[in-house]
Amino acid sequence: MVKIDALFKDTSWIGQKVIVKGWVRTFRANRFIALNDGSSLQSLQCVVDFETLEENLLKKINTGAAVAINGKLVESQGKGQSVEIQVEELMVLGEADPDQYPIQPKKHSFEFLREQAHLRVRTNTFGAVMRVRSALAFAVHQFFRTEGFYYVNTPIITGSDAEGAGEMFRVTTLPAQQPPTTAEGNVDYKEDFFGKETNLTVSGQLEAETFALGLGNVYTFGPTFRAENSNTTRHLAEFWMIEPEMAFYDLNDNMDLAEVFIKYVLQYLLEHCDSDLQFLNQRLEQEEKTKPQAERSEMGLVEKIQFVVSNKFQRTSYTEAIEILKNSKPNKKKKFKFPVEEWGIDLQSEHERYLVEKHYKCPVILFDYPAKIKAFYMRLNDDQKTVRAMDILFPGIGEMVGGSQREERLSVLEERMAKQGIDPEELDWYLDLRRFGTAPHSGFGLGFERLVQFSTGMGNIRDVIPFPRTPQNASF
Ligand code: 4AD
Ligand code: MG
Repeated sequence: MVKIDALFKDTSWIGQKVIVKGWVRTFRANRFIALNDGSSLQSLQCVVDFETLEENLLKKINTGAAVAINGKLVESQGKGQSVEIQVEELMVLGEADPDQYPIQPKKHSFEFLREQAHLRVRTNTFGAVMRVRSALAFAVHQFFRTEGFYYVNTPIITGSDAEGAGEMFRVTTLPAQQPPTTAEGNVDYKEDFFGKETNLTVSGQLEAETFALGLGNVYTFGPTFRAENSNTTRHLAEFWMIEPEMAFYDLNDNMDLAEVFIKYVLQYLLEHCDSDLQFLNQRLEQEEKTKPQAERSEMGLVEKIQFVVSNKFQRTSYTEAIEILKNSKPNKKKKFKFPVEEWGIDLQSEHERYLVEKHYKCPVILFDYPAKIKAFYMRLNDDQKTVRAMDILFPGIGEMVGGSQREERLSVLEERMAKQGIDPEELDWYLDLRRFGTAPHSGFGLGFERLVQFSTGMGNIRDVIPFPRTPQNASF
């Protein structure tokens, strides 16, 4: 058996007898099967001589059926493909009743396909998106491996509830009805599986820090969970995050790494996923045409990726960004839902979009945010007001990366924790890192699905993960 992709790429197959197996995309004129096996966007044309096939068998060659085909690969006479198979033998491995199979060769809405998430990967769009996703994941590992980073697996069930990155999902084996209670009437987690309250992790960062301060440069790439009721096109309750953590890096080193990293994985796509990207490019172009002129993107998908790869990201401090926003047209004309009046506010996505899409027109790294709106572990600046945080904002996506230099000074960290009401007992192990051999270190988190979204031009984050988990939805 040979993969269809190889037949397209390697001309030495021409003239040879081959066996291919895949799923029927279309069957035209009782003669032309478009066969797809997932190895490439393009389906392989298989030409059957219907006079030699039994009527009974012909009826089973429907869209969605799994078939095995034996035949000779020849140069194609028709338009649209370089090679085709002259079918000598055909076996239907699995039928797909045309009255019931939901994925017919016509345009289906993404909403409909989300309900068919177990079958949608058999469409051109989802096939392309999932191949790109896989290529990106590989490029992530390749980048870090090349740079001398170690891959670490941080826990998915966490016993510390102080990470502060978002609402958590509780993990428990206690009965939902009438769980054991303490004398005060609270749920008694001492009786629970772990003897304490546990949750699904919102980030592997704190544990990754322990590894950085021993192995040097490390990264995690794993599932992350947030129980926020955010029904947006950019939020999932379960998503994958890439979190590098580097000993002896300051914030500038951190920003440099993030920029080089993003460019590397996007460049990898340009070099390895050309036909999928071209297809997604066209898909996006079609979609853009349905939008009003003012909302259309100025660049195509591939152009956008090339642009990001070859241009420097704009680096701007939070303070500078606030000035730009304060003096911006939409702010003065009261077009922002959240007007920008004073230093210290948390930036809303409308503000981020303005900076990235209207003002700078390129990815932007914002740094030195007010301490009040950022996590306790970010390093306090000498102004005592801002912390060494950085967010990378992308056109059409918003926040792609969140990171910081970490507070390595024990007393400052303790003070910040106290201010944010975090129990030092809970994070005693984290404080140990500052007690024994503390060192400047930094890291960031990149939301993998947001990266896939940017790379594929898909409008909704639910369409770049195999089985999306969002509020009120955990099918499959
Ligand atoms: O900014 P966040 O919350 O940062 C952290 O969790 C840090 N502990 C990371 C670190 O420094 N190691 O999340 C990081 C990124 C965001 O920039 C965004 O891309 C993505 O994770 N993200 C989400 N992606 C999809 N759905 C969600 N609900 C997300 N929340 C965050
Ligand atoms: Mg963030």
